[in-house]
Amino acid sequence: MRGLIVTGTDTGIGKTVLAAGLVGALAQSFGQARYWKPVQAGLAEETDSEAVARLVPGATIHAEAYRLVTPASPHLAARIDGVDIVAARLALPAGAGPIIVEGAGGALVPLSETRLYAEQFVVWGLPVVIVARTGLGTINHSLLTIEALRWRGVPIAGIAFVGPAEPESETIIATLGQVRRLGRLPILPDLTPVSLAAAMAEHFDLMDIL
Ligand SMILES: Nc1ncnc2c1ncn2[C@@H]1O[C@H](COP(=O)(O)OP(=O)(O)OP(=O)(O)O)[C@@H](O)[C@H]1O
Ligand SMILES: [Mg+2]
Repeated sequence: MRGLIVTGTDTGIGKTVLAAGLVGALAQSFGQARYWKPVQAGLAEETDSEAVARLVPGATIHAEAYRLVTPASPHLAARIDGVDIVAARLALPAGAGPIIVEGAGGALVPLSETRLYAEQFVVWGLPVVIVARTGLGTINHSLLTIEALRWRGVPIAGIAFVGPAEPESETIIATLGQVRRLGRLPILPDLTPVSLAAAMAEHFDLMDIL
């Protein structure tokens, strides 16, 4: 178990929270687990690394390879910030325990002017967890994401839903997309390290993911 990449069907849908949940669950099984957000675009709000550190106290958080001020797609944020995103700086950081790597936005977000995240996933060589909303529109977004990843040869570990239960949508996505449904994280009114760890334990079977 080297690690997993967390991508999603959209921005702002709970990738970081789910990634934090995975870091916590893996740390329980492996003794330690790590989180890495290679490119953070937008520094005005709490960053994804800061959110994971808050939700999983004690987790190993690797520093971002790029911290871009502009809240935009990484390729554009880099251009506006006057930064070149180069492949050499995107090598997976070494360390003890499995690593959770979070993309930005979704699979076909440009990481640079010449590379999509999905293409970088192939380079990293880790299986991908797709995070998807349960609400209206998710079937199309989820199946599009699955197809785009498969077409580029990215291995898919499964799909993790975030939101209120929508069993019909979740089932048809797993069936037609031929992906494993890993679980569903409900919206937690009080999102804390304790409530997140409890929800992960209740709604996800780590053996499915591994
Ligand atoms: N299961 C949940 N319970 C409660 N709040 C949640 C849950 N999932 C996400 N949120 C909240 O929704 C917001 C967006 O979530 P998150 O930052 O994880 O999205 P994201 O997909 O990682 O976004 P980005 O594309 O910007 O990285 C955050 O304020 C987060 O705390
Ligand atoms: Mg995030």
